[in-house]
Amino acid sequence: MWEWEILENECKNCTKCELHKSRLNVVIDRGNRNAGLMFIGEAPGATEDRVGKAFVGNAGKMLDLALTGLGIAEDDIYICNILKCRPPNNINPTKEQALMCMGYLMKQIELVKPDVIVLLGGVALKHLIDSSLGITRSRGSWTEFNEIPVMPTYHPAALLRDDSKKMDMWKDIKEAWKRTKNS
Ligand code: URA
Repeated sequence: MWEWEILENECKNCTKCELHKSRLNVVIDRGNRNAGLMFIGEAPGATEDRVGKAFVGNAGKMLDLALTGLGIAEDDIYICNILKCRPPNNINPTKEQALMCMGYLMKQIELVKPDVIVLLGGVALKHLIDSSLGITRSRGSWTEFNEIPVMPTYHPAALLRDDSKKMDMWKDIKEAWKRTKNS
């Protein structure tokens, strides 16, 4: 428990990159810190920045819809992001920002010890696995991070723009869920 408090404190006081100047809140996570299924997105958007929780805006609603449809409870999942602070105008995280924030994500993975990680979108894929990979080719195929199975899939915001991605995203999450101990 105290390890989470230390991490929260470090994140809340973080000034490693310029994003601390414009943030309203540091966004650490949402969900169960002991869950078997961990989602990693990109960075907080405007709603998350205001509320202080991950994926509580429109993209989060799309994700929640998928989870409900697949019978996965809020308590079964843990969600966080590559960046803990919102980039102004939602621009993609830079390599430097991602690197400076990476230690916090590593600690989250270490503390949650998920059975499976789902990467939401190309940004998470590039920064966690390999900068040369694209989400369209990589989604739906298992990869690995520190011996944890990783399933890349579309970012839920992409579903808001293109409804045809929904089936694939749901399929990928279902596949990941089947590999968790709680499924
Ligand atoms: N998009 C993300 O990648 N993360 C959030 O928390 C919200 C929107």
